[in-house]
Amino acid sequence: MPSSHLRKQSRLYRAVAKARTLWVLRSVFAKQPRAALEYVRSEELDNFTYEIGNEEELARFIADVLGVAPRRVAHLRCELQEDIALRERLAVKLRPRTDRRDEPLFGRRIGWYCMVRLVKPSLVVETGTHDGLGTALLLRALERNAEEGSVGRLPTFDIDAASGWLLEEHAMLERVVGDTRKVLPRTLKGVAVDVFIHDSATRTSTSASSSRQRSRARANAWS
Ligand SMILES: C[S@@+](CC[C@H](N)C(=O)[O-])C[C@H]1O[C@@H](n2cnc3c(N)ncnc32)[C@H](O)[C@@H]1O
Repeated sequence: MPSSHLRKQSRLYRAVAKARTLWVLRSVFAKQPRAALEYVRSEELDNFTYEIGNEEELARFIADVLGVAPRRVAHLRCELQEDIALRERLAVKLRPRTDRRDEPLFGRRIGWYCMVRLVKPSLVVETGTHDGLGTALLLRALERNAEEGSVGRLPTFDIDAASGWLLEEHAMLERVVGDTRKVLPRTLKGVAVDVFIHDSATRTSTSASSSRQRSRARANAWS
């Protein structure tokens, strides 16, 4: 296990990190004491996972943007909801980690799953693999598409070599370690991206750079 993962699992490290964050964000937490409590209670230190309260709204948005009947999105949400095998595969990897929740919470990633199922892309690109939770859902959607005859592939990018620990090797998946500002141009040169998930750093320079790559790749971009 990489040393960064081991460090985050130490109780002392996590207590110090939380105390520091509480102090730095004290003015924010003062206005939202429930958020502070939730933060203290949570096992997670970063990239917090959660369910979303407006899943219906997300589903309506996707149906609207893709011009499909809302019941098709509803069907895909059920398909994911009922995918016990996927949840269990992820939970088996999450449970030993004291700095992550025991069960995967998909949150907004449900929308990514539905989009990939509906668009049936040949190429999905994700920037920001992190643990690999979103990647796992995107890959699952591609697997289901392939069962229905639409084959696609998924390169996922992260600057952190320790990222993607939730993932297994898979023929449709390519994990690229590096700064997207450097590696996206060469990896996506001349290729058409059907779905683009921009979930890496949101600093202006990084976003702008990713955005230029999307355009250059003649992407039908989704971020
Ligand atoms: C919000 S997390 C991604 C969450 C993930 N997509 C998911 O579904 O859980 C952001 C990730 O972007 C990565 N990142 C930040 N800046 C980057 C860059 N310039 N190039 C590549 N990866 C970057 C971070 O290492 C981090 O793992």
